[in-house]
Amino acid sequence: MAYTVTKLKDYSPTTLDTAAKELLRALDQEATAIRNEPDWKAFRDRWMARKNGVLTQVNDLWLKTAPKEAKRNVGQRVNELKKAAEQTIEAALQQIEAKAVLSRLIGDRLDVTLPGISRPIGAEHPVIKASNDMVGVFRNLGFSVQEGPEIETDYYNFESLNFPPNHPARDTQDTLFIANQQSKPLREQLLLRTHTSPVQIRTMEKIKPPIRIVIPGKVYRNDPPDASHSPMFHQIEGLAVDTNITFGDLKGTLDHAMKAFFGSSVKTSFRPSFFPFTEPSAELLVSCFVCGGSGRRGSDPCRPCKQTGWIEILGCGMVDPNVFEFVKHNGYEPSKVSGFAFGMGADRIALLKYGVDDLQLFFQNDVRFLSQFA
Ligand code: DAH
Repeated sequence: MAYTVTKLKDYSPTTLDTAAKELLRALDQEATAIRNEPDWKAFRDRWMARKNGVLTQVNDLWLKTAPKEAKRNVGQRVNELKKAAEQTIEAALQQIEAKAVLSRLIGDRLDVTLPGISRPIGAEHPVIKASNDMVGVFRNLGFSVQEGPEIETDYYNFESLNFPPNHPARDTQDTLFIANQQSKPLREQLLLRTHTSPVQIRTMEKIKPPIRIVIPGKVYRNDPPDASHSPMFHQIEGLAVDTNITFGDLKGTLDHAMKAFFGSSVKTSFRPSFFPFTEPSAELLVSCFVCGGSGRRGSDPCRPCKQTGWIEILGCGMVDPNVFEFVKHNGYEPSKVSGFAFGMGADRIALLKYGVDDLQLFFQNDVRFLSQFA
C-alpha cells in the first residue's frame, strides 16, 4: 500500500514522532525500489512536486493546520523531513548513476586470461629454404644474386650457351616451347627456360668483368612427375669471371660451399662430364653424409648414394671461350678472361639435406608435411 499523508490527530511530540517515522520508513522503502532513471524521476516528483507532492501535503496537512503554540515544533520537524527527503532523493540518483557506470564497465569487460587468437604465419618452403641457404653460402664468398625471366628465347637458353643447332636438348623431348612461334627466327622463339644458365649471358651483357654471381630460380622441362622429376623445379647457377680464374678456383670454391652447406665432414670429388657451355666440364660429387661414404647403413644398402658412397650434386666447368664470344663486346674478350660456372638442382639438395625421398611431397602443398620444415 502506497504511503499517504494523513492529518495528525494531535500535535504532541509523540504523535509527531510516530508520523515522522512512518513517513521516513516510506521514503526509504520507495528509494530502495528504484531501478532506473524513470523510476527515480517518478520518485522525486511524488515527493517534491509543488502541487500535491508528499512534502507539500505535509506542509498543508501538518504545518498549516498546527495551532500557534505547536507551529515552531512542527515547523522544525517538517524542515527535518524535507532535508531527509532531499538527501534520499540525491543519494538515490547517485546510486542509479553508479549502477549505470558499473553495467557499462561489465559490458566492456575484457578477460585478459583468455588465450589469444593465434594467426599462423607462413614459413619458407623447404626448397626455397635450401636454395636461400645455398645462396647464402655464396654470398658469404662475395657472390651477388642475379635473376632472369622464366620465359626465355632460344638465343639465351641455347644458342649463346654454345648448343649446336641440332643438339638433342633443343628437342621437344625436354623443352617446353611456347606455341605459335614458328614465324619468328629461331633465336627469337620463346620457350620455358630449361636451366638458369641463360642468366649467365644476360648478366654478362649488363655487367663488365670481373663478376661473381649466383642465380636461383625456377626452370621447366617436359618430364612427367615422379619421385625425382617434376616439370617445374629449381636451380642455382653460379658464375665467376675474371682475368685469371683457374680450375683450382672452381674446386676450392665448390669444396668450401659443399662443406658449408652439408657439414664440414663431407669430401668432394670431381668427375669428367660434358656441357656445351663449359670446357672442361665436370660433375661434383660429395661423400654420402648419410652412410659416411661406406655405401651401407648397418646391414642395409644406403639408398641416397645408391651404395656408392658418393652423391652427385652439380654440373660445373670452365666457361667455354665460345660463350665469351657472345659477350665480348662488353669486356669478355675470350683470350683475356676466364671463368668457372656451375649449376645445381635446389629441389635435389633439399631432398638430400632434409632426408625426403619423394620430390612430389614438395609440390603437393600438404601443410602437415611442409610445417615440419618451418
Ligand atoms: N645448366 C645445366 C643443367 O641444367 C647445369 C650446369 C652445368 C650449369 C654446368 C652450369 C655448368 O653452369 O657449368 O643441367
